[in-house]
Formats: sequence, C-alpha cells, structure tokens
Amino acid sequence: MNTEAGEKMRVVQVPLGERGYPIYIGKNIFSALGETWLETVKPGRVLLVSDENVFPLYGGKLIDALVNSGFAVTPVVIPAGEGSKSLTWAENLYTHALEADLDRSSLIIALGGGVVGDLAGFAAATYMRGIPFVQVPTSLLAQVDSSVGGKVAVNHPLGKNLIGSFYQPKLVWVELAALDTLPEREFLAGAAEVVKYGIIMDESFFSYLESHWQAFLAKDPVVLAEVIAACCELKARVVVEDEREAGLRAILNFGHTLGHALEAATSYGYYLHGEAVLAGMLMAVDIAENKEILLPTEAARCRALLSRIGVKRPPVGLGTEQVMASLRYDKKREGETLVFILPEQVGQVAVYRDVDYLLIQRVLDKYFTTSS
Ligand SMILES: NC(=O)c1ccc[n+]([C@@H]2O[C@H](COP(=O)([O-])OP(=O)(O)OC[C@H]3O[C@@H](n4cnc5c(N)ncnc54)[C@H](O)[C@@H]3O)[C@@H](O)[C@H]2O)c1
Ligand SMILES: [Zn+2]
Repeated sequence: MNTEAGEKMRVVQVPLGERGYPIYIGKNIFSALGETWLETVKPGRVLLVSDENVFPLYGGKLIDALVNSGFAVTPVVIPAGEGSKSLTWAENLYTHALEADLDRSSLIIALGGGVVGDLAGFAAATYMRGIPFVQVPTSLLAQVDSSVGGKVAVNHPLGKNLIGSFYQPKLVWVELAALDTLPEREFLAGAAEVVKYGIIMDESFFSYLESHWQAFLAKDPVVLAEVIAACCELKARVVVEDEREAGLRAILNFGHTLGHALEAATSYGYYLHGEAVLAGMLMAVDIAENKEILLPTEAARCRALLSRIGVKRPPVGLGTEQVMASLRYDKKREGETLVFILPEQVGQVAVYRDVDYLLIQRVLDKYFTTSS
C-alpha cells in the first residue's frame, strides 16, 4: 500500500491470536486511513483523545480522514503532561463518552504521546467493560514503546502507573511526519529506548543504529521507518512471549532500575523518562563490566552509542545517597530483592538479583562525578 508521498507503508503484526493487531508505519499516511482501518474497526462513534500540544497540530487532519471514512468524532483535549494520567481525567473521559452516546461498538482513539495513550487506553479498557481502542502515537517514545504491548494505566497519588490493565489496541497508526514537530529533547529521550532494544536483543539492529545514527537524528524517512518498525517488531516479539509480564518482558526494564530511582529521587520533575533510563543503562553497563559478565570491548561499544544521545547532567543537590534511598524504598515496597537487567554482550541481557549495594554505590558515584 502506498502513502501520500508514494512510499510504501510498513505493517508490523503483533501476533496475539484474537487480541493480535497490526501496526502501520509510514510518512503522510492519514489519507490512507479509510482503506486500512475499515479492515479492523467499524465506522461509528469515536471519542478522540489528544492533548493541547498535539491536537492543534494533527487533530484536524485526523478528524477529516475519520469523517471521510464514516466516523462521527467527538474530540476531547486534555492538558499536556503526566498530571493528566489520573483517575480524575479517566472519569472526565467516561463523561464525554456517555454524553456522546458511545456504546460497546464505539471506538476510543489516542492521538498523542504516552500520556494520552495510557490514559485513553485505560478509559477504553474500562468504559462499559472495554470498547475498541486505536493508538495514534505521536512521540518517538510512544511510537517505539508505549503504544505497543497493551499496558494501559493512570497514576495514583502514591505512585506511577499503579491503576491499570493489559488491554491491546485494535491497531496502531504510526505517522512519521508527526516527529517533525516533536521537541528535540523529547526525540532524544525516545532514542534512549531505541538503543535499548539493540542492546537487549538484537546486535544487528544495534549495528544498524551505529552506522545510521546521523540519518536517524536527521529524521531521514527511510531510516526512521526502518528503526521504528524494528523496535515495534522487537517489542512485539517480547510481548507475544510474555503478554502479562510474568518473565521475559522484564528485559525491557534494562536501565530502568537505576533510571526509576533517578526519576523518583527527583520527584519525576527533572529528568524525562528516557533521560533517566539512558543514565540507568550506562550504569548497568558499568555494573556488568565490573561483574565481568560483559567484555570491556562490548561495554565500550554500548557506551559509545548511548553517549551519542547526550547524557543529561544530574541536578545540583542530587547525589548517590538520595538515589540509594529511592532504590531501598522501592525494594521495600515491592518486597523483593533488587532486580537488574544486565548486558552479557550487545544483543543479549539476563536478569541478575545479586548486585551488591557497594557496587551500585560505586557506579552512582562515577555518574555523579563524571557527568555533573
Ligand atoms: N504503556 C507502556 O507500555 C508505556 C511504556 C513507556 C512509557 N509509558 C508512559 O508514557 C508516558 C510518557 O510518554 P511520552 O514520552 O510520549 O510523554 P508525553 O505524552 O507527555 O509527550 C511528551 C511531550 O511531547 C508532546 N508531543 C507529543 N507528540 C508531539 C508531536 N508530534 N509534536 C509536538 N509535541 C508532541 C506532548 O504534548 C508532551 O508535551 C509516561 O506516562 C509513561 O509512564 C507507557
Ligand atoms: Zn522506559
């Protein structure tokens, strides 16, 4: 199938049986919406959820394409930012859905980053015990990560993503042109999760990133499509093996143990998620090298590509002790030992539960002395 620009649209399948779905990826694909969506969803009432940054940019185009294909659209625009991923906003969406007469055959669409996707997906999973849901991710992070795999959630005042479900969309529609307006800092934060896939499971993808990095940063459409399709494919592979996060899916948390601790220690107000994960991955590489499970040459290769994203300096006043405190608090809450996903070579990771606190302290000290 061709897009407006005459390029081929790519399709990645998430083969989950009855809950399986296609991910369409291409540039300027809104006009091709009718012919593809109608294979999967029926025209009818739609609640289109977006945020105040994304809706003015792409809302009109998406609504036109939907209306042309026979959908009746009610848009709801939420404030941008993590604060909207709340039960209060979920309730607002239910109210809009009820007022617009949405029933169990209607559709909820998320147009935006991971915040919109997680919130709208949570509303779709729970409204009338679940109605069809479509993801139109517009941030790099949402295109390579949060829109794939079916985790939907809102935050609770006591913690992030604590109220949620596993709920797969009917389809995912990745419009590459949306990345042209994404702030550079957000793009780079998403790039951290991109490199993550290479390190955890695919050496040849990692090597593709090494040789196409400039073109990727320049958003060359061919490279972008290749990279995003590869990430979706890799994530789909993990999700199909372990849909409800009983085992393998944990490898996606590479860099996230210390990344989350950095985010928590700064009350989620300093780092973007991907920035914290990037620092977390670099520290996990240090730990792996120290434990002699990763060769120095492989560690250097990981560091070289990760560093090309640009490591964010820690904020003034943050140090090893506060991050260690966040880690200990997390461990206490989860009632288990600290779990680290560590690389054994580029393209392969394993789960480790025996990383000692002194070593963690050492790599944190290094992070604070070398990047501040
Ligand atoms: N469900 C999952 O599996 C999963 C995985 C990873 C992260 N998440 C969640 O995703 C969220 C983070 O997602 P995010 O990084 O996309 O954040 P986000 O949704 O807040 O988007 C980042 C910023 O970019 C703006 N934006 C998005 N697309 C744009 C575009 N094309 N042009 C201009 N501006 C644009 C948004 O308005 C926002 O200000 C977190 O809540 C996290 O918990 C979920
Ligand atoms: Zn992440």
